Amino acid sequence: MNSLKSYQLGGLQLNNKIVMAPMTRTRATNYIPNELIAKYYEQRASAGLIITEGTSPSANGLGYPRIPGAYSDEQIKGWKQVADAVHTKGGKIFVQIMHTGRVSAQINMPKGATIMAPSAIQAAGQIFSETGMKDHGMPKKMTKDDILKTQDEFVNASERLINEAGIDGVELHAANGYLMDQFINPKSNQRTDDYGGSVENHNRFVVETAQKVADKIGANKVGIRISPFGAFNDLQSDYTEVEETFISLAKALKEIGLVYMHIVVQEDSFGVENARTDRQLDLRKAIKNAFEGTIITGGNVSTIATADAVLEDGFDLAYVGRPYISNPDFVERLKNNIELQAPNPETFFGVDAVGFTDYAFA
Ligand SMILES: Cc1cc2nc3c(=O)[nH]c(=O)nc-3n(C[C@H](O)[C@H](O)[C@H](O)COP(=O)(O)O)c2cc1C
Repeated sequence: MNSLKSYQLGGLQLNNKIVMAPMTRTRATNYIPNELIAKYYEQRASAGLIITEGTSPSANGLGYPRIPGAYSDEQIKGWKQVADAVHTKGGKIFVQIMHTGRVSAQINMPKGATIMAPSAIQAAGQIFSETGMKDHGMPKKMTKDDILKTQDEFVNASERLINEAGIDGVELHAANGYLMDQFINPKSNQRTDDYGGSVENHNRFVVETAQKVADKIGANKVGIRISPFGAFNDLQSDYTEVEETFISLAKALKEIGLVYMHIVVQEDSFGVENARTDRQLDLRKAIKNAFEGTIITGGNVSTIATADAVLEDGFDLAYVGRPYISNPDFVERLKNNIELQAPNPETFFGVDAVGFTDYAFA
């Protein structure tokens, strides 16, 4: 029952140790969070912490259709509606800042936006669009100026989310093959300047951005998500320096004082063969040792026993993804031992309330 106890996360008192994992749901028409999205998060406010769907800090990071942004007045107004709805129900909410980088197609982006990445290497595979699956676009290799501008976008979005929208904190999305992860991983980053080559250089974009965001809004409002061994979005799962990279990153982020590190657990179904289970657990523990602060991890958590097992391994909070799609009252169901409803994958990336806000409460 440890997972149902409260937890102090920086300045926030969480009602329990269950974290709703970030999940893209593509209901943000014109990239603007709307009333339906506010209702969806309000329904799930009994989670200890909600981490929202990936949200772009600029037009350049909008690689998918109908994902939200956090850079225009209308978007910030939409996020305020979301924050108010969740807070009214006593919940806490971080917005995940996701710049998609090369995981994008021009057809999904607003006019004038540019697909950019650490190197001009196109991601294999396809991406969904309003008119079917499309090849990923060829990214422009980011110049130093592009890097500085993009970091400013992360800072501005974070500042507006906190100061104008009243969101509790931001999570930097450095997982699952999006822009930050593209800098970390050798398959997508073949730069020879300060942002590529050595372990420290591969981490530089993330560490600098985290520092700049923390300087602006306070490190105790900034978390980060990473996915060691991830292969999703055409990254290299295993390479010589993988452990060294993430331990070095954890040490740098400890210095900045980030409020948490959130570690995705890989499964075979994510394209990681045999999922390197033991090495994953060892690395998660090494990251915890190096970072010392709060670690969120999980994957396939759907019972008190599986949530508590995450904590017994020495971590602090357990993330819950897919079960949160179909069980808005996930925590109450756990508490009262009520069976979970199964989610319908066909409406994961839908357009309306169906499969979004219409799952029943127990
Ligand atoms: C529909 C869907 C959308 C997702 N979108 C995101 C996202 O925007 N950002 C992110 O970091 N992870 C995303 N994920 C991954 C989840 O956060 C989580 O890591 C994954 O579902 C495994 O956890 P689970 O076994 O509890 O579902 C998504 C997963 C699903 C199913």
